[in-house]
Amino acid sequence: MGVLRRTWAWIDDVTGLSASLGPILTHLVPRAQKTRWLYVFGSATLAVFIVQVGTGIALSSAYVTGSGQAYDSLLFISRSRVGSVIRGIHYFGASAMIVLIGIHAIRTYLMASYKHPRQVNWLTGAALLMFTILMAFTGQLLRWDQGGFWTAVVAAEQAGKTPFIGHWLGHFLLAGDTAGGATLSRFFAAHVFFIPAFIFAFLGFHLYLVLHNGISEPPKAGRPVDPRTYRTWYHAMLKKDGVPFWPDAAWRDLFFAMLIVILVVMLGIFVGAPALGKPPDPTIIQASPRPDWYFLWYFALLSMIPKWMENFVIVGGPAVFGLFLILLPFFGGKGERSPLRRPWSILIVAFIVTIIGYYWHMGVLAPWSPRMDAPPLPPAVVGVTTGSVADGARVFHQKGCEYCHLVSGYGGIRGPDLSDAGDRMTRAEIATRIFSGAQNMPSYTGNMSPQDLTVLLDFLESRHLKPPAATKRFPPR
Ligand code: HEC
Repeated sequence: MGVLRRTWAWIDDVTGLSASLGPILTHLVPRAQKTRWLYVFGSATLAVFIVQVGTGIALSSAYVTGSGQAYDSLLFISRSRVGSVIRGIHYFGASAMIVLIGIHAIRTYLMASYKHPRQVNWLTGAALLMFTILMAFTGQLLRWDQGGFWTAVVAAEQAGKTPFIGHWLGHFLLAGDTAGGATLSRFFAAHVFFIPAFIFAFLGFHLYLVLHNGISEPPKAGRPVDPRTYRTWYHAMLKKDGVPFWPDAAWRDLFFAMLIVILVVMLGIFVGAPALGKPPDPTIIQASPRPDWYFLWYFALLSMIPKWMENFVIVGGPAVFGLFLILLPFFGGKGERSPLRRPWSILIVAFIVTIIGYYWHMGVLAPWSPRMDAPPLPPAVVGVTTGSVADGARVFHQKGCEYCHLVSGYGGIRGPDLSDAGDRMTRAEIATRIFSGAQNMPSYTGNMSPQDLTVLLDFLESRHLKPPAATKRFPPR
C-alpha cells in the first residue's frame, strides 16, 4: 500500500491531476431525486463509443480496403474466434449507440434541456446524433457484401434526388459514376478518419458545455426558464440542495454504462455479428437489399410510400427533421420546461416513435420482398415424403413459389397464402395463374416442364385447411 500511495503522490505531484480533475469530479449537480436514472443515457453512449473506437481500431488492423479484398478480409476476420467476437462487439456496439443516443435525445427534448443557457449543448448533441447515424451508415457499407454494396447504390440514388446539388452529391458519395473500389476507399476514410474526428471534437465541446452550464435540473411545471435570472437561480439552487457529482450522481452513470458494455460484449461473444451476405456482384440487381436494422424502417418507408411522394420524403424528411433540431433551441429557448406544460412535445415524440416503429415492423416483415432464404417445406407440412405431392412440394421450393407464398407458415408473404389453395381454387384455376402470372407474380410459361406442373398442381390441390368432418371442434358449443 505504501508503494502505491507514494507512486500516486508522485504522479499527482508531477501531473497535478487531483488539482485539475478533483473539482470537476466533485462539482455540484442537482439532486434530482425522482428522475436520477433518466440522466444516464448520455454517459452510456460515451462508454459504448469508447468500445467502438477500441474494437474499430482492432478491426481496421485486419481489414483491407479494396473492392476485391474487403469481403475476403472480412471472411478472414470472421473465421478467427477473436476476430468474429470483435466484429460482434463492434456490431452490437453500433446498435447500442444508436439506441442510447436516441433515448438521450428524446430525454433532453422531453425535459426541454435545450432551453437557456444550454442551447449549444443541444446543437452539439444534434450534430453528434447526425455523426452517429453517418457512422452506422458508412460502417455497414464496409462489409462490402451484397447488402452493403446495394446500400451504397441506393444511397447514391437518393442523394441524386437532392435539388440542385443532387448529381454532384451522388457522384461525391460513390467517388465516381458507379459503385466500386473508389467508393469503398471513400467510405472507409469517412468511417475511420473524418467522422470520428468530428465526433471527438464535438464530444469534447459537448462535455465542456455540460460542465460549463451544469446539468439541467429536473423540470417542474410552473417554473419557467427566464434567461435573465436562470443562472443566478440555478447556482443558488445548487448551493442549497446540490450533491457532488462524484460519488452521489456518478455511480449511476458508471453502473449503467458498465451494464451496457457488459451486455454488448456478451452479445458479441454469444450472438456475434450477422453473417456476411453474398459477395458483391454489380451484375446482380438484388431485388431486396436489406440494410442493418436501424435503417430498416427508413428503407421500408421508401418501399411503401407512393412513387410521387418519394422525392418529397427523401429530401424533405431529413431537411424538416434537421431544421427542427437546429431551430428548436432558438425559438424555444425559454419558458416552461415540464413536458406536462408542453403536451405537443409528447405528441411529437409519440408520433415519431410510432412511425418508426410501424415501418420498422413492416421492414422486418418486408411483405414486398420475396424471401429468398425460405427453407424447403418440412415433411410435417407436406404430409408425405414420396410420391407426386412430395415432388410437387420440391418444385414449389425450387421454382421460387415459396419465396412469395406461405404454406402453413413457411415462405414469403408477397403473394396470397396458399395453405388452403385446394379449398379455394380448382386445378385449372391454379394452372392458369401459374402460366399467366399476375401483377406481382412472374409468368411461368416456358419455364416449367409438364411433369413439374403436374406434381406442383398435385401438391397445391392437396393443401386444405378445412378440417375433415371427424375432427370438428369438440366439445361442440
Ligand atoms: C415474385 C413473387 C411470386 C412468385 C415467385 C410466385 N408468385 Fe404466385 N402470386 C404472387 C402474387 C403477388 C399473387 C397475387 C396476384 C394477384 O392476384 O394480384 C400470386 C397469386 C398466385 C395464385 C393465386 C392465389 C389466390 O389466392 O388468388 C396462385 C395459385 C399462385 N400465385 C401460385 C404460384 C406458384 C405455383 C408459383 C411458383 C410456380 C408462384 N405462385 C410464384 C407472387 C408470386
